[in-house]
Amino acid sequence: IMLLLLWAVIGYLLGSIPFGIVVTQRLKLGNLREIGSGNIGATNVLRTGNKGAAAATLVLDGAKGAVAVLLARMVSGEDAAQLAGLAAFLGHCYPVWLGFKGGKGVATFLGILLALAPPVGLAACATWAVTVAVTRISSMGALMAAALSTLWVFALGHPRVFVLGVILTVLVFVRHRENIWRIKAGTEPKIGEKK
Ligand code: G3P
Repeated sequence: IMLLLLWAVIGYLLGSIPFGIVVTQRLKLGNLREIGSGNIGATNVLRTGNKGAAAATLVLDGAKGAVAVLLARMVSGEDAAQLAGLAAFLGHCYPVWLGFKGGKGVATFLGILLALAPPVGLAACATWAVTVAVTRISSMGALMAAALSTLWVFALGHPRVFVLGVILTVLVFVRHRENIWRIKAGTEPKIGEKK
């Protein structure tokens, strides 16, 4: 149990590294909090106009979730891996360094799934990509990828990640409350549009 607690802490610390802020500060792209939605994720980094920075944020925020899972699995097995993944997700969304005001967890969610159950992760990435290609709305891709992840969990034969998948899906929806309101109101910005 001490070991599990340790993985929760390590996962949280990894997840709480806000790569969107790190990348935009490094490249002097301005204050992410004052751009677009003010969110720290790749979608909002893209609103700085720098595609490379957005891609780097997406990959790094995903990688921290994957690294947490893979490290924990290597050392302590599958339960530790799931716990570390959940902790990384919570670290991203509620980082102590930012007064617990973090991101929406999409990239980290995908990274965690890719590491825990690669086929499910790939299917979730594809769901996100197809939805965004069709709607041009990043949050729509996130909500669709989260919602359908449970379907992929069973369709692709990974019932072990069902419970964690549902928890993460609920949290993704909770973190996208404002996006959901904007989608309903028809005011959610499309990718490439300034908000
Ligand atoms: O990754 C978060 C995305 O789904 C929405 O971001 O900045 O449009 O609220 P944003």
